[in-house]
Amino acid sequence: MRIVKSKRDLRALVSSWKADKQEVGVVMTMGALHEGHLSLVGAAKTDNDRVIATIFVNPKQFDNKADLDAYPVDTDADLKKLEDAGVDLVYLPQAEEVYPKGYSTTVAVGTMQDCLCGATRPGHMDGVTTVVSKLLIQTSPDRAYFGQKDFQQYLLIQRVASDLDLDVDVIGVPTVREGDHLALSSRNRRLSADQRAIAPTLYKVESTIADLIRQGEAVDHVLEWGRKVILDSGFDRIDYLEVRSEEDLELFSDVADRDNLLSGRIFVAAWLGNTRLIDNYPISR
Ligand code: PAF
Repeated sequence: MRIVKSKRDLRALVSSWKADKQEVGVVMTMGALHEGHLSLVGAAKTDNDRVIATIFVNPKQFDNKADLDAYPVDTDADLKKLEDAGVDLVYLPQAEEVYPKGYSTTVAVGTMQDCLCGATRPGHMDGVTTVVSKLLIQTSPDRAYFGQKDFQQYLLIQRVASDLDLDVDVIGVPTVREGDHLALSSRNRRLSADQRAIAPTLYKVESTIADLIRQGEAVDHVLEWGRKVILDSGFDRIDYLEVRSEEDLELFSDVADRDNLLSGRIFVAAWLGNTRLIDNYPISR
């Protein structure tokens, strides 16, 4: 496995693969790798001749300095996991390589980013779409893989690739869960034992809401029930619990949208102490 830190070395290697007509997949990460990331690598390995992983803790997507400072970093362990998973190349740039002095461009998507995490974490989504655009240009892959746990991020990146005519397929990979259905996340390692026991409530609430909506219950009513269950279980606060279209993130209110409800997805973000967990679940399941 090759490790490169500069755009120049990255491009030289990718160009040599492309000259040999090899197809390239990329998995972008901020490190702190878990099985969810490795499932992206697995999907990329199935579809491509070569797989690049990027590790870059992107400061522009943290709306809060404490959250950035608390972000877990264990590069040696990450590199070992990527090597074992069969990654060909790791791009490990420093911040100055990604945002050199004078850097001033932001890639921002329109209305689709004004809701969910875009609304509750100011600047976060712009930070994501900016760095992902740059990493797509730098790695020039045929395919790029993103976890559906960050469903809004995945849709926004599809939008960016389409709007900016980037010649890449953006592929969403299903969320990987623990045995008790908690979605894997680098943030889970910050949870205390008590918080870890509470965390799977998000999945229980989402899956129950999906069942109830399919059975004909009113959307607003079941969401209100869900908010109460999440808070009663021990979560400290909820940023959002909503049903939205999984195509364009339009809010589903109720009866008017009943015919489309099966294309809806439940989205949740809630806090356990200082740790913010997100998840989503399709109504059609
Ligand atoms: O999902 C993440 O880990 C990050 O948002 C990403 C896509 C690597 C961009 O920094």
